[in-house]
Amino acid sequence: MSRIDQETVNKILDAADIVDVVGDFVQLKKSGANYIGLCPFHNERTPSFSVSKSKGLCKCFSCGKGGSAVGFLMELEQLSYVEALKYLAKKYNIEVKEHEMTDAEREMATERESLFAVNTFALEEFEHNLLEEPDGRDIGLSYFRERGISDAAIKRFRLGYSLDRRDALLQAAKSKGYDEKYLITTGLCIKNDNGQVYDRFKGRVMYPVFTVSGKVVAFGGRTLRSDKNVAKYVNSPESLIYTKSNELYGLYQAKQAIVRKNKCILVEGYMDVISMSQSGIENVVASSGTSLTEGQIRLLHRFSENVTVIYDSDAAGIKASLRGIDMLLSEGLKVKVLLLPDGDDPDSFAQSHTLEEIEAYIAENETDFIRFKTKILLEGAENDPIQRAAVITDIVKSISFIPDQISQLVYIGECSRILQIDEKVLKLEVEKRISQRAEAELKSPHNTQTPDQDAHKAAVDYGTSMADPRDRRAAVSGKAFQLLVSCEMNLLRYVLKYGMVDFCDVMNEDGQTVPLKLIDYVNDELEADNIELVSEAVKSVFEAVKVQVSQYWAEDEATFMADLDKRREAFWQQGQNEIQQTAVDLTDIKKKEIALKEECDNMYASECERFTTDYLESRLASSADDNVRRLTTELVSEKYQLSKVYSKYSKVETERDRLIDLVPKAIATLKEAHITVLLAEERERLINLDKTQPGYAEAAAECLQQIDTYTRLRMELARNLGVRVIVPRR
Ligand code: GTP
Ligand code: MN
Repeated sequence: MSRIDQETVNKILDAADIVDVVGDFVQLKKSGANYIGLCPFHNERTPSFSVSKSKGLCKCFSCGKGGSAVGFLMELEQLSYVEALKYLAKKYNIEVKEHEMTDAEREMATERESLFAVNTFALEEFEHNLLEEPDGRDIGLSYFRERGISDAAIKRFRLGYSLDRRDALLQAAKSKGYDEKYLITTGLCIKNDNGQVYDRFKGRVMYPVFTVSGKVVAFGGRTLRSDKNVAKYVNSPESLIYTKSNELYGLYQAKQAIVRKNKCILVEGYMDVISMSQSGIENVVASSGTSLTEGQIRLLHRFSENVTVIYDSDAAGIKASLRGIDMLLSEGLKVKVLLLPDGDDPDSFAQSHTLEEIEAYIAENETDFIRFKTKILLEGAENDPIQRAAVITDIVKSISFIPDQISQLVYIGECSRILQIDEKVLKLEVEKRISQRAEAELKSPHNTQTPDQDAHKAAVDYGTSMADPRDRRAAVSGKAFQLLVSCEMNLLRYVLKYGMVDFCDVMNEDGQTVPLKLIDYVNDELEADNIELVSEAVKSVFEAVKVQVSQYWAEDEATFMADLDKRREAFWQQGQNEIQQTAVDLTDIKKKEIALKEECDNMYASECERFTTDYLESRLASSADDNVRRLTTELVSEKYQLSKVYSKYSKVETERDRLIDLVPKAIATLKEAHITVLLAEERERLINLDKTQPGYAEAAAECLQQIDTYTRLRMELARNLGVRVIVPRR
C-alpha cells in the first residue's frame, strides 16, 4: 500500500529522466535518437541496452529486461514500487510527505500492518537486548562471538536475543501500547489454556526472517542449552503475514549479490547463511530445514536461474534430498550440486577457509545436477541390471522435468554416455514420460491449475513473460486461445501507443462532427459485439487504461496545456526580441514574424502530439501494478513496431499514419478469431449429438443453422478486413 499521494507520485514520474536514471548504473553513449550501453542485467561485451529519452523507457535487446525508470530500478536494485519512487524522489529533491498517522487512520490501518508493526518492535527489542542488555551481551552476544560471527554480520542479519524471562517481550510491548492480540497472532507470545500469556522465544538467540522487500515476517529462535529435550529451533507460526513456504531465509540480504553473480547458493540452516555471507559469499539463502517448496523456487527464480545446492556429505541426506530437486528442474532452473568435504557443513567450511579457498572449492567441485545424480545413483549399481534399470528410470524422470528442449537433448546425450545406453532409447523414454504426465494432468479432476501449454506458448511467443496459465476460458481449446490472445495483445498495443490520439470523426447528437479517441473507438467496437477479453493479463491492462483515462487524463491534459501555453508565450517573446534586434526594416519584421508564428505553431503541434501519443504508455509503464507495468513495457518496446511501409510515392509511412487502416483491421481480426472459436464449438456440439435421441434432427438442424450464420459472418468480416469503413480525420 503506497503511502505516497498520487500528486507526488506524478511529480516524481515526471521528473525522472530515464537517461539520467539509467546513467547512474550504466555508461551510456548517444546513438541516433537513443542512447546505448552495456546491459546491467547480463554480461555482455557489445552494448545492446537501449534507452529512449523521449519514451522514458529502456530495454535490453539481448536479454529483454528493462522498463520505465521505476521499472528499471525495481528490477536492477530489487526494490519495491514505493522504494523505487523514494529513490527517485531523493535523486530529484522531491519532498515525499509520508504523513504521520492520525488515531482514526491508525485504527483503519489493516491488521497486516499491525502485525508488521509488532514484529518490527520485537526485532528492535531483540536486537537491543543482544547489544545493550547485560543478560543479552553475556549470554547471546558471547554465543555468537564464540561461533565466530562478526559484529557486521550480526548487524546485517539483525540478530537478537530474547530475554530469559517468561513475559519480558510481552510487558515491553504492552508498555509501548501494542495490543496483546497481535503479539499472539504473530506468534511472538503464546496464550495457554489457563489464559496466561508468555513469550514464545524466551532465552533464545533470534534470527529474524525478512521478505524480499525487507519486512520482518517471522523469527527463528535457537536455544543455547544442550538439553536434548528442548527443541533446538523454535519458529514463528504461520500468520496473515507469514507463509513459511513462500519465504527464503537470507534472501533480503542476498538478492543483490544473487543478481550480480547471476547465481544463488542454497544451504540448509540459518548459521550456514550467516557464516557464508560474512566470509564474502553473499549470494546464499536457506530453505530453513524444510524441503524446498514451489513458492520458494519461484521466488528464487525471480533473481537468477542458476542455483547451486550445497549438501553436507552424509550419504543418506543426499539421496533423500535428490528428490526435491526435480522441482527445481521443472521450474526451469539450472541446478548444480556441491558436496562439502567429509564432516563439514557450509557454516564450518566457511569459518575454516578464506574467501579465495571457498570460491576455488566451489568452482572446482560444483557439478551439474543430472550428472551428479547419475553418478551417485550409479555407484554400486553398475553390475546389477535391475538396479541399473531403476537408475535409468529415475534419471529419465529428472530429465523429463526440464522445460527447455535443448537442455534436455544435451543431458540425454551426456547420460547416454555415462549410462551406456543408446541416445535414441533415452530420448524415447523421456518423451514417453512427458506425454504420460500430460495425460495424467488432463484426466485429473483438479486440473484447473494445469498450465495450458498452448496458451502459455502463445503469450510467450508474443514476447511476453506475462503468460498466466490460468487465463483461459475452460471451453476454449489451446490453439484457439492462442489465436485470441495474440489478437488481443496486438489490439492492446495500439491502445497503449495511440489510445489518446483523435482517431476519427463522428457525429454527435447535435449533428456536429467531433473527434473520437482511439481508445473510445476500440471500446465501442468491443462493446458493440459483446467481446470479452480472454487473457487476464490483457484485461487487467485494459482496465488500467480505462482508469487512467477516466480519472487522470482530463487533469493531466489541462496541466500540460497550461504549461505548453506558457512555453509558447515564452517562445514567442524570445523570438520577438530577436526580431527587434536583428530586423532591418518593416518588411523584414513582417517576414520574420510570419516565420516565427509558423515555428511556434509547429512547436505547439508537435508537443501536443508527443504528449497524447506518449501519455498512456508512459503512465502505465510506471504503474504500481507488476502486470500492467511489465506488459506495457513489453508491448510498446521498439521491436514490436511494424516495419515502416514505403508507399508508392516512396514517402515513409509510419504506423501512426496508417492507424485508420490498422486498428479496424486488428479489431476485425479479433472478432474473426472469436467467430472461429464459436464455429469450432458449434461443430463439436454437432459431432457429439446423440443420433439415437429423439429430437436429434431438430438439434442438428439448429447447429447447422448456427454454423451457417457464423460462416457468413466470418466471410463478411474477411471481406471487410481490407476495406476502410471509417472517415479518417484530416
Ligand atoms: P546450528 O546448530 O546453530 O549450527 O544451526 P543451523 O542453522 O546450522 O541448523 P541445522 O543445520 O541444525 O538445521 C538446519 C535448519 O533446520 C535450521 O536452520 C532450522 O531452520 C531447522 N531446524 C533445525 N532444528 C530444528 C528444530 O528443532 N525445530 C525446527 N522447527 N527447525 C529446526
Ligand atoms: Mn549448523
